[in-house]
Amino acid sequence: MSEPVAPFQAPVGTHDVLAPDSALWEGLLARFAERAYRYGFSLVINPLFEDVGVFLRGIGEQSDVFRKEMYVFEDRGERRYALRPEGTASVVRAFVQHQPTTPWKAWYATPAFRYERPQAGRYRQHNQLGVEVLGTDDPAVDVEVIALANGFYHDIGLRRVRLLINSMGHEACRGAYVELLREYLAAHQDQLCEEHREGWRQNPLRVLDCKRDSCVEVTTNGPLLIDHLCEDCRTHFDAVLAGLTSLGIESTLEPRLVRGFDYYTRTTFEFVADALEGAQNAIGGGGRYDKLAEELGGKPTSGIGFGSGVERILLARAAEGVTGELLNRRLDLFVIDTTASAVATVLIERLREAGFATDRAYDRRSMKAQMKVADKSGARLALLLGPEEIETGEVTIRDLRSEDFAQAQLRVAQSEIVSTVANLLMK
Ligand code: HAM
Repeated sequence: MSEPVAPFQAPVGTHDVLAPDSALWEGLLARFAERAYRYGFSLVINPLFEDVGVFLRGIGEQSDVFRKEMYVFEDRGERRYALRPEGTASVVRAFVQHQPTTPWKAWYATPAFRYERPQAGRYRQHNQLGVEVLGTDDPAVDVEVIALANGFYHDIGLRRVRLLINSMGHEACRGAYVELLREYLAAHQDQLCEEHREGWRQNPLRVLDCKRDSCVEVTTNGPLLIDHLCEDCRTHFDAVLAGLTSLGIESTLEPRLVRGFDYYTRTTFEFVADALEGAQNAIGGGGRYDKLAEELGGKPTSGIGFGSGVERILLARAAEGVTGELLNRRLDLFVIDTTASAVATVLIERLREAGFATDRAYDRRSMKAQMKVADKSGARLALLLGPEEIETGEVTIRDLRSEDFAQAQLRVAQSEIVSTVANLLMK
């Protein structure tokens, strides 16, 4: 025997999700999958790790996530891999590799790994639901992707969610703007936060993303990309805004919204939940990345998508006091059998095959002990099989929600069980 140890815990910044919370996760996933399907998306499943170059070229060497938060490792074959910190780069890598017909519309559910300082709503493993569309820069797609997210949040009960939107322009107009921003930041560098006083030269756009008061103040008064878009980018952005308006989706222009990855071009957006704390209130975000496929070795291909954090969505729901279930994950039946006979096994299998969620007790426990488990199980009905029922070929059914014991109980023939249960559950 090896030495006893203290029980192991999940790694810092990670969580186990058990019932009943896991039913909410299942519900979110089911609702998202259903909505994605309705919008013409199909599921894509990627590896959880990739060649580190996918993220170096994808999210960008200068991004905070790449510089400070990646889980990078060497495998036994001396290949350098990274756990995916987000979904987009892997999906685009898969697009480049497999060259599906375009437009290619894919949805995914994936864990993402970032070495962050763990706090409420910020974890080292979080989970994202997302979509990506490759092969078109039609502003109608931008609208569709945003409408999908918006409808999803509404569908799961969130009401205090705001859409922030911006355009990052494309290479040419952004390049000219970045030069302007450089000049401005050079003149104001002493007023920037400590991190950006040093770092602004490498990537001045990151300063716009900084949440510290000093940087916010400087950049709010500085040049904004939205005022320096080229005609094409402006026309594209206006078409997106008009499309959103035509669907009745309200948005707020947030000219400092540059998002954390280097791949973004043109439309960028974020959904913030007002019920959550400021620093962790983004429940979803996304945008266009018209150069990413090329960065990963593919042909020039436009793309857009968004990702949404499951944990934050659930925090926002709780903070808004949304209580409704997303999926019925209650047991219909609990079978109590004191005879340990094959009759119970057969009956239970029949009920499950007929579509009823059915559980039972094990280990030949007493009637009282089994009844306790049945009460705790949340099942609507208990089925009792004792020696008398086996003898007469019957089964006793008890409504576990009824206080009135005499009213709550009835006996039926075992052969009638499926139809009787179906009738009772409909009541
Ligand atoms: P992101 O904004 O980094 O974008 O992450 C998307 C969402 O994941 C966030 O809005 C937030 O809800 C959640 N999230 C991010 N980091 C954490 C964390 N450490 N703990 C808990 N939740 C977190 C992306 O990842 C892009 N791939 C989105 C995208 C798709 N852009 C285009 N297509």
